[in-house]
Amino acid sequence: MKKKTVVTSALPYANGPIHIGHLVEYIQTDIFVRALKLSGEDVIYCCANDTHGTPIEVNAKKEGIPPEKLIQRYFIEHRRDFEDFNIHFDNFYTTNSSENKELSDYIFLKLKENGDIYTKEVELTYCPNCKRFLPDRFVKGKCPSCGAENQYGDNCEVCNSTYKPTDLIDPHCVICGTKPITKKSLHYFFKLSNYSEKLKKWLIENKNLQEEIKNYVLNWIKEGLNDWDISRDAPYFGFKIVGEEDKYYYVWLDAPIGYIASTRNLGTKMGFNYEDYWKFENGRIIHFIGKDIIYFHFLFWPAMLMGSGFNLPEDIVVHGFLKINNEKMSKSRGTFITARDYLEKLNPEYLRYYYARSLSRKLSDIDLDIEDFKEKINHELIANFGNFVNRSFSFLYKNFNGKTSERFNFKELEEKILKKANDVLNYYKMVNFKSAIKEIMEISDMGNKFFQDMAPWKLIKEDREKAHEVLTFSVNIVKILSILLKPVIPTVSNKIERILNLPHLKFSDLKFDYLSKEIKKPEILFEKLEEIDLIKKDPFTSVDLRVGKVIEVFPHPKADKLLILKVDFGSEKRQIVAGIKKYYSEEELKGKKIVVVFNLKPAKLRGEKSNGMLLAASSENDVGVLTVDGNLGDMVRPEGIEFDGTEQIDIEHFLKVNLVGKNGIAYYGEKVLMCGDKKVEIDKGISGKIK
Ligand code: MSP
Ligand code: ZN
Repeated sequence: MKKKTVVTSALPYANGPIHIGHLVEYIQTDIFVRALKLSGEDVIYCCANDTHGTPIEVNAKKEGIPPEKLIQRYFIEHRRDFEDFNIHFDNFYTTNSSENKELSDYIFLKLKENGDIYTKEVELTYCPNCKRFLPDRFVKGKCPSCGAENQYGDNCEVCNSTYKPTDLIDPHCVICGTKPITKKSLHYFFKLSNYSEKLKKWLIENKNLQEEIKNYVLNWIKEGLNDWDISRDAPYFGFKIVGEEDKYYYVWLDAPIGYIASTRNLGTKMGFNYEDYWKFENGRIIHFIGKDIIYFHFLFWPAMLMGSGFNLPEDIVVHGFLKINNEKMSKSRGTFITARDYLEKLNPEYLRYYYARSLSRKLSDIDLDIEDFKEKINHELIANFGNFVNRSFSFLYKNFNGKTSERFNFKELEEKILKKANDVLNYYKMVNFKSAIKEIMEISDMGNKFFQDMAPWKLIKEDREKAHEVLTFSVNIVKILSILLKPVIPTVSNKIERILNLPHLKFSDLKFDYLSKEIKKPEILFEKLEEIDLIKKDPFTSVDLRVGKVIEVFPHPKADKLLILKVDFGSEKRQIVAGIKKYYSEEELKGKKIVVVFNLKPAKLRGEKSNGMLLAASSENDVGVLTVDGNLGDMVRPEGIEFDGTEQIDIEHFLKVNLVGKNGIAYYGEKVLMCGDKKVEIDKGISGKIK
């Protein structure tokens, strides 16, 4: 009996946009599923948004909306992004569903029945002001081992040491800045160690899993598995634990169950039983994930499945992380490129192609090098493949009205190509797309060489019949290439099928034949890539902030709200006009070290030149200037955002940079404005927008 396969990608958090890093996985999975479908397998692709957890709850609160509303917004946004990248889910659902709640309770109770669940009192970090327990990512402080400032509660990004949030020096709550305390709470635990032996057996016996991963997961087991804390206290956005009022399943408990829930939801819509995939012998489960979530998918998840009587994954394909120009994606470098940013500029199938040609079953990172991307698209997809398609189609169309020849005989090349085509299918099955693409491009090379050697433009004058055969054979190669590339660039393949007049080609159509007897008018398939401007810099990179000391102050002769300041920047002195007369006396300002937008285009304010702009935060009824005890002329920057040397900016540009004062400290987003190792403070401790 034919296997029933369910394929999944990890469920993206409903807490931010899909970016091109995520797309590595969804494109990889989509190509795989399309390949299986084209080979006639019974397969469905199920996914969902991962909607629970503290960050989603906190962000919704920040926006003043219920979490349901926040996740709904991302649901719509994500769906659209995936669709526009031709990522075709059979079902894209949500983990915040009744199916998921029911299945989560079911699995939890099964595990409890087995004796795998117990409760234990634990001591956790708690913010007395927010009245909530703080996950590691919600506490920051000085690294206990190297002293680096502003590190998260779990590990230090400077020295890489790991620790508990309670070890941090001068810790503070990321939400409100308060110093956290520790507090006790009763938590539910899953006894993962009950499954050590079974997990080991599964890992060893499973022949599909990548060796490199198997080895280190087996090592974790050898070192002894820790029990898993699966509950969280209110406030939380998630499912209440059965029989509890204030306790919730930890998001990572119900998230993978979302794979089953999504299948079940599809089953209800389509009229099948989800257990065909998840419980019965005929079912087959294949997960795709990134390397950061191996622990969850190779230990917790299979243990949960074992404990509650579900099938185990037959394969878990793990990919590496996306790098851009060989560096980690980063907002400050402008390389945090969302799916939407990309779509506004470039063809989604170019990214699909580029990822496909980089992906094999390796854990190594995938580099999107912008120059290489352009080169590979222009040379391989367009010059090699696109040109061959174009030459073959146009020649046949122009010289033979698009009619194909019934006969042709190029057996040797035909066999070579079909052999390669078969290799491509195997590579798809093995999720080795890199090799698949290599073979495909070699077939395209063969096609081009054949065309060139046969020179139909000459041949047609000597032997019209033979030229017709050559062109028909070439168009057959085009068909083969189009079928082979269909999992990767379905839109292009569909266009080719329209020209061929052969809709819905499948892998079983990989043969040379009479085609549809007549092709249609060829159309343009690709546009060459010119300059690519995907990388968008943080607007702060071109903003130059400096420390200056106020040395003289006098009233503006023509405006009663303005003051004129003489400011010393060490190497030069400047005149700056500021609208703060209502809030500061001349004496109060004199001698203060202030922060100035140094490269702002000079302006005249009511007739007086202002060369730069003083920064101040305003609350409802007061204004406080930014001050910092730095050397005159020194730069003020948010951490990690270097100044790029832009000589002048206008006020519109500066207004894109949103600065705020919180509890007397100046922030750019989550980052504190710093001058060397000194924080920029706000006079009078004012909180509010900075301008
Ligand atoms: N919600 C969890 C997964 C739960 S699965 C039951 C999660 N979400 S995520 O949005 O952070 O990531 C979704 C997938 O995208 C993960 O497999 C992750 O590895 C992958 N990627 C996220 N950023 C990535 C890159 N920069 N590069 C490649 N893959 C990346 O984890
Ligand atoms: Zn707090």
